[in-house]
Amino acid sequence: MHAQHDSLAVALPRATGTATHMAMPALPSPRTLEDRRLIHRNDSVRAQADAFRDLRTQLLALSDQRNFVTLVVPVTAGCGGSFVARNLALAFAFDESKMAVLLDCDVLYPSQRAAFGVDAAHCGLVDYLEDEGRQLSEIQYDTGIPRLRVVPSGTRRESTGEHFSSVRARTMIDSLRSTSPGVYPILDSPPALTSPDARILADLSDFVVLVAGYGRTTQEQIDKAMANFSAEKVAGIVFNNRV
Ligand SMILES: Nc1ncnc2c1ncn2[C@@H]1O[C@H](COP(=O)(O)OP(=O)(O)OP(=O)(O)O)[C@@H](O)[C@H]1O
Ligand SMILES: [Mg+2]
Repeated sequence: MHAQHDSLAVALPRATGTATHMAMPALPSPRTLEDRRLIHRNDSVRAQADAFRDLRTQLLALSDQRNFVTLVVPVTAGCGGSFVARNLALAFAFDESKMAVLLDCDVLYPSQRAAFGVDAAHCGLVDYLEDEGRQLSEIQYDTGIPRLRVVPSGTRRESTGEHFSSVRARTMIDSLRSTSPGVYPILDSPPALTSPDARILADLSDFVVLVAGYGRTTQEQIDKAMANFSAEKVAGIVFNNRV
């Protein structure tokens, strides 16, 4: 539980003085990562890791040397949007000059807390957006993976649009991005065709990466999903072959 490694994530106390994140999770083994369908540096997942590195490189090439916010959006539920978001975040974290913060913005069907085995005992994104008294440091959880932090979605809500369109959400993204020029926030969105939040979250983002299910999403669905976003924000489409 208390293994030493070179994570940049620091457990910060609340303003009240109560420590929120007492223990640093241990670095997960390659086997654990593989079981969770998370990329790592060993040869066994090289092809998949290279695909995510390539996606990262393509985004960096679009970015004008500045750090940026990426929204990863599945066209419909189950395309693997969350899988792409978390592995893209890992690809950023592979680079020692960068750090990724993965925000789970799918409040109805969250997945990142479980995918990383994060013990989010305290609170998450929507709790922070609702409560002005909460600090941003409280909702960023260490994953045990160097340079990767996760923000879980928080307490389940039926409606979240007003949270994501709030001034507090904008300020939060700006402060995440400006913490350091090496920080890359990645937002895991609910599906474009079934949630109005995808479009709202795009307003907080510099790039949109759409995720289609290979052999499962139709061209018509892709076109409809695309129409939700301004063309200059859409960086591209990932066809995810979920076996
Ligand atoms: N290309 C893939 N290879 C292996 N496993 C995958 C792949 N794509 C998705 N999965 C697995 O399928 C499961 C569901 O994927 P994910 O976590 O993205 O679900 P989701 O959030 O329901 O999907 P979406 O975000 O598209 O609605 C996860 O266990 C994930 O690891
Ligand atoms: Mg998802």
